[in-house]
Amino acid sequence: MNKNIVCIGAGYIGGPTMAVIAKMNPDRKVIVVDINKSRIAAWNSKNYALPIFEPGLVDVVKEVRGKNLFFSTDIKKAVQDCDIIFVGVNTPTKMFGKGAGRASDLQYWEATARNVAKWANGDKIVVEKSTLPVRTAAAMSAILNTHEKYHFEVLSNPEFLAEGTAIKDLLTPDRVLIGGAKTPSGDAAVDELVKVYCGKGGKWVPRERVLTTNVWSAELTKLAANAFLAQRVSSINAIAGLCEATGADVDEVARVIGADRRIGPKFLKAGPGFGGSCFKKDVLNLVYLCETFGLHTAAEYWMGVIKMNDHQQERIVSRLFRAMFNTLANKKIAMFGFAFKADTGDTRETPAGTVARLLNDEHVCLSITDPKAIPNAKKDLEDLLCTPTPPTYTSDPYVAAKDADAILLMTDWSEYPALDWTKLYKSMRKPALVFDTRNCLDADKLRKIGFTVLNIGK
Ligand code: NAD
Ligand code: UGA
Repeated sequence: MNKNIVCIGAGYIGGPTMAVIAKMNPDRKVIVVDINKSRIAAWNSKNYALPIFEPGLVDVVKEVRGKNLFFSTDIKKAVQDCDIIFVGVNTPTKMFGKGAGRASDLQYWEATARNVAKWANGDKIVVEKSTLPVRTAAAMSAILNTHEKYHFEVLSNPEFLAEGTAIKDLLTPDRVLIGGAKTPSGDAAVDELVKVYCGKGGKWVPRERVLTTNVWSAELTKLAANAFLAQRVSSINAIAGLCEATGADVDEVARVIGADRRIGPKFLKAGPGFGGSCFKKDVLNLVYLCETFGLHTAAEYWMGVIKMNDHQQERIVSRLFRAMFNTLANKKIAMFGFAFKADTGDTRETPAGTVARLLNDEHVCLSITDPKAIPNAKKDLEDLLCTPTPPTYTSDPYVAAKDADAILLMTDWSEYPALDWTKLYKSMRKPALVFDTRNCLDADKLRKIGFTVLNIGK
């Protein structure tokens, strides 16, 4: 067995994860492959115009690309070069047939497994990096091990990094999870992967932070971990509505709840609801699994997390509507931030997208600004171009706010509190309103300037 690693799928997971694996394992060759030619070209671009924005990523890629990290579209050759094969292709929610709207669409996964079996030139360890429904590894193992000559050991190694902090999360993870079959060949494969995460000379993840379980526990843990995080966001947002109705302040409530060490302070920030490519998809996947096993009450419980999240975006628009005299038609609203969170250009499932569509239904003239997400925002809202009031886009918040009736802050970019709010106020139509859905601005200061201010949970 050689030490080389290939990762199939050069997206948000494959790119950063493999860059850090290459950095911490300079004695291993790491190849990242993808069917998407333009994505690979961007990973290989001379000026490091990488296909995704992630703080610190360019520095790691500069350090290892061309030394022991390579990007390629030749998947067959890479599979033949490497004995450890990570699969990090996308696993979107299935939109057709059985399980539509809930189950994972596994067609990319199965196609990848079949290709690996077709091209293999020796025994391989296949590592599930994508988030997958419980028991996918069994299906993969069944497909792969129809091979006459070679043995394939399938491991589950879900990724817990968050976008915006991916490099930090990868370099110093709370834990790494490896699930393997409880057999001699399963144990040997787990040991091989543990070596990768400990890094050359044991300088990466401390051994006690690499947790090993059986395959099914690893697959389920990933879905459960995301469901717990999503549930915390929905829980605090449910409390936020009540705060608005009663005069309580959700940030104060969260601070005190979080001071209880059994609960902890993280993931208690009320806001426009969770976005990102995974929370909704993974919770829906869990709902589908519960339904499949007849656990209907558990399915309903997890579905509540999604319903609460959707409700939060509807609530934002209703509050804006009421505060702007029950008519939004032809008013200009500047949307500050479109990415689903700060420090990323990713807009998948962003609450800003849902809110933009609801405002477009009201014929709002929306001017969208974001430091990193404008190209994705334009693609996401392409179909609104034919509506009576299509959105406009600018990277300059001052341009977005000019003559606007309201600023709707959707993403907690650190540059927004530092803007010249007096200058913004002067350029707007009066009465000028700010709806800070992230509670990240100084509301008292804004009120002194003259703004009407709305917050979440206050
Ligand atoms: P992505 O869409 O950014 O990247 C997936 C890549 O796989 C794409 O570039 C696509 O072209 C490629 N691909 C698809 N089919 C292929 C094939 N047959 N051969 C080669 N390449 C193929 O997706 P992502 O955000 O990287 O997510 C991938 C998986 O990782 C998902 O299951 C997701 O749930 C999981 N995950 C993502 C994150 C995250 O922060 N984005 C975190 C943890 C887990
Ligand atoms: C999340 C998890 O945090 C990762 O552990 C996991 O690996 C990843 O999903 C995945 O499987 O894809 P990510 O979606 O990148 O990471 O970002 P988070 O920081 O978790 O934020 C998710 C959403 O929740 C964002 O829209 C964020 O603004 C929102 N959020 C988060 C809140 O509204 N309040 C909070 O207190 C925390």
